[in-house]
Amino acid sequence: MSAALLETEALTRRFGGLTAVDDVSIGVRAGQIHAIIGPNGAGKTTLVGMVCGRVRPSAGRIRFEGRDITRTPAWRRALAGIVYTFQVTSIFRALSVRENVALAARRRLMHSPARWLHLDPMALEDRVDAALGTLDLREQEHRPAGELPYGHQRLLEVAMALALEPRVLVLDEPAQGLAEHEIDTFCERVREISSRATVILIEHNIDVVLRLSSHITVMDRGRIIADGDPASVEADPGVQRAYLGRR
Ligand SMILES: Nc1ncnc2c1ncn2[C@@H]1O[C@H](COP(=O)(O)OP(=O)(O)OP(=O)(O)O)[C@@H](O)[C@H]1O
Ligand SMILES: [Mg+2]
Repeated sequence: MSAALLETEALTRRFGGLTAVDDVSIGVRAGQIHAIIGPNGAGKTTLVGMVCGRVRPSAGRIRFEGRDITRTPAWRRALAGIVYTFQVTSIFRALSVRENVALAARRRLMHSPARWLHLDPMALEDRVDAALGTLDLREQEHRPAGELPYGHQRLLEVAMALALEPRVLVLDEPAQGLAEHEIDTFCERVREISSRATVILIEHNIDVVLRLSSHITVMDRGRIIADGDPASVEADPGVQRAYLGRR
């Protein structure tokens, strides 16, 4: 049997006549950086949306630690440690960087029916400090989030997710908007995060993907066209045609 921490089995999502995710089975192993790549519209965001509970599957199953979570609500998955960042920025622009991180942690936990769980304020502040530190945002913590350059707003969202101490962290295009010289540091940070959490990374920058990931799933028009270690995926002729060649 596979030792996957998180698995999808024949996962499918239709939107009207369009099958956005078509019969997708993947296994994400603990401790990995598992990249999901593919052209625009391939179904990447929809796939992770189902993994996180934001999008309802039309068919198929999702398992986390061997347990079926296909029908588990998103808040309960978040409490279990499946945390994601949106592809589209979802920060509060007028609030400070720090307030955004604190709010994310509090909001996710407090909006759940498990809000009666006692939340120690000091522990929360420690989490916020750690999350901001990991993304190098401490120096900017009192700035309104809306004043940060776009790429740094994306990093802020990663910090917001980290404050929840995820076990599986889903990053949907986190490096979007970063300058070339910021990419190295970004890769280091993701690697650091991956020592504490399993990372599912959706990313269009193929250099980032090849540098970071231990496993790559390639999607095209809803289906998996390749799945394996970076070297084998990079050498796959179908991948070259469908994805790498188009870049
Ligand atoms: N809520 C929705 N309603 C209708 N169609 C949708 C919806 N969400 C996604 N789609 C469609 O499903 C397909 C897959 O979209 P998805 O956003 O998952 O792709 P993606 O691989 O994340 O693309 P990108 O790289 O551009 O982010 C697209 O054709 C998209 O238009
Ligand atoms: Mg997407």
